[in-house]
Amino acid sequence: MSDAIPISLTINGERRQAFVQPWHTLLHVLRDVLHLTGTKRGCNQGICGACSVMVDGEVVRGCLTIAANCEDCAVTTIEGLARGTALSPVQQAFLEVGAVQCGYCMPGMIVAATALLKRTPKPSEDQIREGLSGNLCRCSGYVKVIRAVQRASEWSDA
Ligand code: FES
Ligand code: FES
Repeated sequence: MSDAIPISLTINGERRQAFVQPWHTLLHVLRDVLHLTGTKRGCNQGICGACSVMVDGEVVRGCLTIAANCEDCAVTTIEGLARGTALSPVQQAFLEVGAVQCGYCMPGMIVAATALLKRTPKPSEDQIREGLSGNLCRCSGYVKVIRAVQRASEWSDA
């Protein structure tokens, strides 16, 4: 389309290009253009946190982030957290604790937890609740999610 905007950004350490419309969200570009479907579309209106990704180290809602504003940004999605074939410490902790039920909220939850532990390596339970307060889960009841973040925080390099 003639009014498409070329953008270039780094996603999970890889330089990527896309043509976007002014109204396209980062979530749309990740999932529907670049086929990085680990990031989930839940409410698509900024409420559930399923679309959480990091942009330049800050957690944002992909469904509320205009893709054209992400020129030259560094984006980290759930696909970028594992180290080769090894799960990240946060992913490993969620797995070990059994925090995952249907799993739909988990990519956003794990991205938010990873950002939290970068900011606050040894968070209190209240800080964990606050750090994940933007991520809704319809199944888990949050108890094991909190335990998983606590476990990851016990490991040095979460
Ligand atoms: S899909 Fe973005 S906050 Fe729900
Ligand atoms: S595990 Fe199902 S929504 Fe969270």
